[in-house]
Amino acid sequence: MQEEEANQRILEGERSQAVRRKLVARTPKSAAVRSKGRDALSQEIVATVKMPHPIYVESADGGTLTDVDGNTYIDMTMGFGPCVLGHRPPAVTAALEAQLGKGWHFGIPNAQQAELGKLVEEASPCADKVVFCNTGTEATMYAMRAARAFTGKPRIASFAGSYHGAHDYALIHVNPNSPRSKPIGMSVGKGIPDVVRDETMMVLPYRNDAAFELIREHRDELAAVIVEPSQNSNPRLDSGDFLRGLQDACRENDVLLCFDEVVTGFRIAYGGCQEYYGITPDLATYGKAIAAGLPIGAVAGRRDIMNCFSGKDGAPWVFSGGTFGGNPLSMTAGIAAMREMRDTKDTLYPYLEEQGNRLAAEVNAFCAEQGFAAQLMNAGSMVHLRFQDTPINDSFDFTEDGKWAEKEFYLHLLGYDVIVPGVHLAFLSGAHGVDDVDRIVEGFQQSFLDLRADGLY
Ligand SMILES: Cc1ncc(COP(=O)(O)O)c(C=O)c1O
Repeated sequence: MQEEEANQRILEGERSQAVRRKLVARTPKSAAVRSKGRDALSQEIVATVKMPHPIYVESADGGTLTDVDGNTYIDMTMGFGPCVLGHRPPAVTAALEAQLGKGWHFGIPNAQQAELGKLVEEASPCADKVVFCNTGTEATMYAMRAARAFTGKPRIASFAGSYHGAHDYALIHVNPNSPRSKPIGMSVGKGIPDVVRDETMMVLPYRNDAAFELIREHRDELAAVIVEPSQNSNPRLDSGDFLRGLQDACRENDVLLCFDEVVTGFRIAYGGCQEYYGITPDLATYGKAIAAGLPIGAVAGRRDIMNCFSGKDGAPWVFSGGTFGGNPLSMTAGIAAMREMRDTKDTLYPYLEEQGNRLAAEVNAFCAEQGFAAQLMNAGSMVHLRFQDTPINDSFDFTEDGKWAEKEFYLHLLGYDVIVPGVHLAFLSGAHGVDDVDRIVEGFQQSFLDLRADGLY
């Protein structure tokens, strides 16, 4: 369907118009916030569901969000993934309250940093040592810097369809018009010098053995390969053979392997995808779940590489650090969250996997039965709805066929009180009950039926 035709159907669609009326009527305060924000902000930092206007969140608890108008939604945003335990887990709240009474920023080390470092080191299969920063973006930036310093080689390879954050190196993504088995990089947005794309990065094909030959060809200039063991855009847990082949190719060619576990760490399993697949890379990057929603990032890995951060034992020193790195609030939240995830791991992770699999199975069975061309991909509790029924191996298989339906779908879902953020990667948490998942399934089903009723699907 062309954009114009889709817009016309939305304009004339009974369900499309009804959900807009409903959302507008129940969110006057959000509308007021929206008009105020327009004066000062060049861009609001987080994209939510945009139509008819964004909703603004007042509070969050467990598996829910409440907006400034008092409407409560089942939240599948989960802060873009950090809230594995749900919002405001009691142990984290209590620890933060205690820390607030003691101050929250010193610029001088606190005891919590070492304790959290120990927890991450014990949880992360590849970690002999850990270094903290504030975001996943910083973590991947530092991991790349350490890999370059350690190997003395300039280039980092990432995969088509991947996301590693917002720094210049991470924003070399695949040009979708390049050949699948020999992808070409392109910068996302302006402001990134071409030299970053041309001389410091390269893009490899995901879940495709052609990547191994490219690693061999470029071995003299490749410092490391960074990979999301389950991509945000393509969540799945059947990549074990590929990841093992990748590790072999890296080892054979003296190229370091870094798992970007910013999303998958402490979510797919307590030990992340490393534990799930039984693969131990040289480095791993973390963020999100460690601190249950406070800003955090971490690099973990083999002692000799991690020594780059201290310059110890003759390792080539790299700079790391920043005003807020290791701050006591993030560290305190991290200790409480990590202990909770560690101590409940035998029930938490099987539950997340079971509910994520159930959600995907029920939505997919409904789509198949009703003839909706869509599939809910999932890696345990990490899910992504794709509006196509053709098989997906990698990002080259994504089609644009359902994109008009997709935009409209999330608006209807919001009308059924389930919120999924702008990037459409969604999560369950340990705080989502079985009945919440039932309501999510129902919301998905009803939203599909609404689209069909208006001739959009
Ligand atoms: C796999 C992956 N790596 C890195 C990042 C960057 O993390 P942050 O947003 O904390 O900078 C993200 C963020 O979503 C991510 O999904």
